[in-house]
Amino acid sequence: EKGGYEHFMLKEIHEQPKVVRDTIHSVLQNGKISFESVGLTDEEMRNIQQIYIVACGSAYHVGMAAQYVLEELTSLQVRVELASEFRYRTMTLAKNSLAIIISQSGETADSLAALRLCKEKGVKTLGIVNVVGSSIAREADDVFYTLAGPEISVATTKAYSCQLVAAYLLAMQFAKARGEITEERFAALAADIETIPEKIQRILEDKERLQWFASKIVNIKDAFFIGRGIDYAIGMEGSLKLKEISYIHSEAYAAGELKHGPISLIEDGTVVFSVVTQSALYEKTISNMVEVKSRGAKLFGLTTYGNYAMEDTADFTVYIPKIDNLFAGSLSVIPLQLLSYYVSVGKGFDVDKPRNLAKSVTVE
Ligand code: F6R
Repeated sequence: EKGGYEHFMLKEIHEQPKVVRDTIHSVLQNGKISFESVGLTDEEMRNIQQIYIVACGSAYHVGMAAQYVLEELTSLQVRVELASEFRYRTMTLAKNSLAIIISQSGETADSLAALRLCKEKGVKTLGIVNVVGSSIAREADDVFYTLAGPEISVATTKAYSCQLVAAYLLAMQFAKARGEITEERFAALAADIETIPEKIQRILEDKERLQWFASKIVNIKDAFFIGRGIDYAIGMEGSLKLKEISYIHSEAYAAGELKHGPISLIEDGTVVFSVVTQSALYEKTISNMVEVKSRGAKLFGLTTYGNYAMEDTADFTVYIPKIDNLFAGSLSVIPLQLLSYYVSVGKGFDVDKPRNLAKSVTVE
């Protein structure tokens, strides 16, 4: 049932080109997006002014990336909230708002409670859910189903990737319905999003280098991930992946925050993963890389082909195929998934069932 792979996680990582393609094509065909299966209408999208994205764990990291994309493409106000915090806040929810609950299982207790709270307060709800018929799918007003199929590995990979593209498509359709995007830009994005599956495939075919790098870091005690914008959101996910299956202490920071405290943790040999795919922010993040390097950090750089600006700074660089900046997270997360996987395997851990964790968190 593992389809020849040693673990479900590796199998699910390799399923990503297919399931991401399926999820894209569930609403995008011939350059046009239809949300008929989701329910949310163009008119509703025009009237919404505020979006609350509510989720836990990796799904929350998708929300972080989605916020940047929605803000870039639309004039919507967007807030991203951890479900376990959101539900206990005494916050006035804006009129004309939409709550987007992102959940693979559709059963996460805090996310479900947040959904119910929004409904009680009269806020329209949209679930981005993988499991058909799950509680969140049943109770949300509208549902965008990700087509990841059953995910067995506790550490999410393919569901996360499907949630990301669902968020892009949602942002694109919001922009279109609201007249906030030119036809040309929409067409360019629609063409570009279609290239994600094959580009993920290319990254998967080049995994030996990552495997080699992973073998060099199995014994590290701490790791840091830095990035700005979407790269920060991906760093958060990379860091969670690493800690949950390899048990290496790991933290992700917005690169600009380093000097407000965390840089004191950097010492000779500390491994710092830098995600650098957002072209407008290259220089700023590279200057943060230089800062940690001068304090002895070992730098893993993750960037886009064509950006060779950090070659002199990074000790090990991984390149992802070129793509619109907004979609880069779908590619940059793949090497980080593979790396965590290989580190966990290298340490002899039970990759699919990490200690202390459950696939679906139904307690609060
Ligand atoms: C991490 C992971 C968790 C889940 C979180 C939310 O690899 O899988 O952080 O993302 O527990 O779960 P769902 O998406 O089922 O609500």
